[in-house]
Amino acid sequence: MSKSILIINSSFRKKNTYKVLMQIEQLLKKSDTNIEIINLFDYKIENCIGCKKCITDGECCFKDDMINLMQKMVKSDGLILSSPIYVGTVSGKFKTMVDRTCMWYHRPELAGKPILFVATTEATGIKDTNKCFETIAMEWGVQKAGFIARSSRNINSSVQDKELLQFLKLLNDGKSSYKPSIYEINIFQVQKVLALKTNERDKQFWQDSGWIDKVYYYTCKINLLKRIFSNLIFKFLYKIID
Ligand SMILES: Cc1cc2nc3c(=O)[nH]c(=O)nc-3n(C[C@H](O)[C@H](O)[C@H](O)COP(=O)(O)O)c2cc1C
Repeated sequence: MSKSILIINSSFRKKNTYKVLMQIEQLLKKSDTNIEIINLFDYKIENCIGCKKCITDGECCFKDDMINLMQKMVKSDGLILSSPIYVGTVSGKFKTMVDRTCMWYHRPELAGKPILFVATTEATGIKDTNKCFETIAMEWGVQKAGFIARSSRNINSSVQDKELLQFLKLLNDGKSSYKPSIYEINIFQVQKVLALKTNERDKQFWQDSGWIDKVYYYTCKINLLKRIFSNLIFKFLYKIID
């Protein structure tokens, strides 16, 4: 069955980042995919005001385009998120969008989706931007399937098929081929304990998702050592967190 991919361009300009995204789209068209590209600047997204209503009540105090965007993200089989690098990291527009997904840090509705990140820069900030993307992926429980970065030095280098390999593999082979890191497993257990101990809505979500007795969100490649670590960290945190 054709896989649906949502590509998000978060630069106002349809220039460097958009150009890379267009190349990715062309390559993806060779496989059985259904691609939608959206421009974040076409979406009205208010700044998070920190009311935490999304966490406690399950919905944001703002009824803006973020509702539609989050639904699109949940419905997609795979995501490609991008940002121009501003002052050494992701742009404000991109971060504003991510802040509004705070409820997914508690109730990870995107868990297991493959995500490819893209960033462009004049020269600097690639490492820190990748770190930022990694943190977001970990907290969302998604499968980080690559990072394509271009600077003025190589902005004209076309995106290669091999840069999309991991994304396509995870998209088509399902979740089972993913190898979560020890950090990802740790975050899974931390979020689980917090859900069980601190928030009834989160607890219900984790129970309904069938994650309570799991070492990770889904069955995938986790070696014995990581399994032991996962169980131990859960028991330890469950004991110390009130
Ligand atoms: C506000 C702003 C901040 C920027 N900060 C950096 C930076 O820290 N390092 C850098 O090398 N380039 C920086 N740039 C350049 C952009 O990252 C670069 O031109 C990028 O490819 C723009 O993407 P776009 O064409 O998709 O808008 C900055 C540009 C702007 C407008």
